[in-house]
Amino acid sequence: FLVDKGNHRHFMEKEIHEQPEVIAHTLAHYLDFAGGGVKSFDTPIDFAKIDRLAVSACGTAYLAGLIGKYWFERYARLPVDIDIASEFRYREMPLTKASAALFVSQSGETADTLASLRYCRKEGVPIATIVNVRDSTMARESDGIFPTLAGPEIGVASTKAFTCQLSIFAALAVRAGLERGTLSPEEASSHIRALSEAPRYAAQALKLEERIEKVGRELSQVRHVLYLGRDTNYPLAMEGALKLKELSYIHAEGYAAGELKHGPIALIDEQMPVIVIAPCDRIFEKTVSNMQEVAARGGRIILITDEEGAVRASLDSFETIVMPTVPELIAPIVYALPVQMLAYHTAVAMGTDVDQPRNLAKSVTVE
Ligand code: G6P
Repeated sequence: FLVDKGNHRHFMEKEIHEQPEVIAHTLAHYLDFAGGGVKSFDTPIDFAKIDRLAVSACGTAYLAGLIGKYWFERYARLPVDIDIASEFRYREMPLTKASAALFVSQSGETADTLASLRYCRKEGVPIATIVNVRDSTMARESDGIFPTLAGPEIGVASTKAFTCQLSIFAALAVRAGLERGTLSPEEASSHIRALSEAPRYAAQALKLEERIEKVGRELSQVRHVLYLGRDTNYPLAMEGALKLKELSYIHAEGYAAGELKHGPIALIDEQMPVIVIAPCDRIFEKTVSNMQEVAARGGRIILITDEEGAVRASLDSFETIVMPTVPELIAPIVYALPVQMLAYHTAVAMGTDVDQPRNLAKSVTVE
């Protein structure tokens, strides 16, 4: 059916703005907000029985999987192997009887992810896919699917599908935690309450657009950008870098903040903005010392944090994008929005083709 841009300049802008609604829609499919529990949706994966979960995907979907790994391991104590699908399909990973495979794909047609799925089929493990297109090849070949209810995504760079994938990972981790007895019903309810607030916080994050547009105009003048984050915000730093390079063709790298000393610090000078994604959480102080290292070398810091973080960072020269204070679980879902908007507005300032960046395809069906 026909999808149009409505009042938006680009599909990507429209899709960024749809996120509060589609995240709410997706979460409501899996979680019972009123009762504070998980809905009894079908799953081919018995989370109580498995002892390993193999996740693979490409691009932005892979980065959603990387965040999912933190959640499954933390809340359900379930070890997760996560691979880029083009590596997984050839690396001959042994899958034991007690493991299951989970794929992530907006289109459900990505060649490498599909080949990985078929590899797992031969290995004889249960297969599930988090997928946006319900009648796709991967959906058909899986034992069961976890649909993202993002609606059609037209912009080549994935935005709303990503936050919906994250929403499902969080919901699945809570379900797995309950089934494995690593989360009490009370703990699970408090996570579900946190998730129920994600759409509202996402809507608040959208209100920062004007501020982000300004930062985007500054970024459009530079050639290299480094993104840093810790914990679940580390994959988000990689997603920020991926989005920026895809859309604006500016060279960007995403790094774990703790890894700064092991390489990227050598690149820091006045020409190199460093975007730090750091809500004020239990490891915030560690990130502050990384920022001090950057500042001491003349690096320009753009800190995406909350009010408490902005106060505590207390550096001499840095810019902040001040986000609402959100529960830790949902931080990468909510912080994804400023990260996407920043890439979008940088690209718009540079005049690139945002919905159809050069050399990229919406769904990569060849190897
Ligand atoms: C392409 C798109 C990305 C997407 C990736 C995986 O590279 O440009 O936005 O994340 O494919 O696509 P999939 O449909 O499998 O999620």
